[in-house]
Amino acid sequence: MAQPVVTIDNVTKTFDGEYAVENFSLAIEDGEFITLLGPSGCGKTTILRILGGFEDCDLGTVMIDGRTVTGVPPESRAVNTVFQSYALFPHMNVFDNVAFGLRIAGKSEAETERTVHEALKLVRLENMGSRRPKELSGGQQQRVAIARAIVNKPRVLLLDEPLSALDYRLRKQMQKELKELQQTLGITFVLVTHDQEEAFTMSDRVVVMNDGRIEQVGSPREIYEEPANLYVARFVGEINVLDGTITGHRGQSYMADVEGASVLVKARREFTPGDRVHVLLRPEDFRVEVMKDLEESPDLADKFAKALLTGSVDRTYYRGATYDVDITLDDGKHILVTEFFDEDSETLYFHAGDRVAVGWFEGWEVVLPYEG
Ligand SMILES: Nc1ncnc2c1ncn2[C@@H]1O[C@H](COP(=O)(O)OP(=O)(O)O)[C@@H](O)[C@H]1O
Ligand SMILES: [Mg+2]
Repeated sequence: MAQPVVTIDNVTKTFDGEYAVENFSLAIEDGEFITLLGPSGCGKTTILRILGGFEDCDLGTVMIDGRTVTGVPPESRAVNTVFQSYALFPHMNVFDNVAFGLRIAGKSEAETERTVHEALKLVRLENMGSRRPKELSGGQQQRVAIARAIVNKPRVLLLDEPLSALDYRLRKQMQKELKELQQTLGITFVLVTHDQEEAFTMSDRVVVMNDGRIEQVGSPREIYEEPANLYVARFVGEINVLDGTITGHRGQSYMADVEGASVLVKARREFTPGDRVHVLLRPEDFRVEVMKDLEESPDLADKFAKALLTGSVDRTYYRGATYDVDITLDDGKHILVTEFFDEDSETLYFHAGDRVAVGWFEGWEVVLPYEG
């Protein structure tokens, strides 16, 4: 394994006695796109500012490119930062904004011109060099900020919510462009966002943060499909949390009593009979049938997933490509199920008041220890 390009080791930072970041450790691989994801105030910007050299940590060490950077000023680090507020020089044109760092570093005018053109081309602004920032749209200004940050080829680019000021469509487009840019350049990107979708679209790995600490690090798919705890499960997308108790073993599976039904579940951890657990299922993981149809059609009943709970439909919500079904299970638990439309039918399959059977395929659930 190659040496990580950034190693953050046990970093702690307090402001006025309050922890902003606590015991934070993370190794970032060369060339990866990694995202710090968490709600406002969880310490994302603080970590980025410590990496960028704008903030010292109280405890712990940071290594960039194999060397400890304690006390090393921002301009002497192999990292650049793109801020949410583009922070362009308003009185300079686009070209000069991007050229600024190169001129400070004493590059020749010929080299500066060539490198700036290259950078502007990468962010699709090759014809905008003579414009002032105020003559550009928000998206274009952010592109200038990105060009300025990549022009001197840093090892690591730090991006603090760079797209959050942009409207939805532009943000989606810029997400794809940024990802492409990262792949073209081969530079390590460290992105900060509170937007789960953004984190998932762009990242090789996501670091889910909560209150200055790391809750889980993994690929978007691992985070979504194998959340380490309830916090992560709830932060990324919708989740149904069923209550259960382990009742025994059967082969690789556990028998469990889940919302009053006896089911088989697969778990990645060790449990013993009597342990209380949360059984997590995404809305799209459930299989639901109207009871009447199951009773009338043995074929359907055979194909149906084995774990069976019963309940009633409260409401349906149109969502475009899918629709949501609110169901109350017979023990009073509410669940949310996502269904696809039947292309051949004018009406929805489910209606308020329908009695339904709810199941899922063994192994689709995530079983976590009870958190109280
Ligand atoms: N310069 C500062 N002075 C005092 N408190 C700060 C400062 N910077 C950040 N904090 C506090 O540290 C915590 C983490 O902030 P921050 O890293 O900005 O979170 P995020 O970027 O995830 O929203 C927050 O409680 C914030 O109020
Ligand atoms: Mg922030």
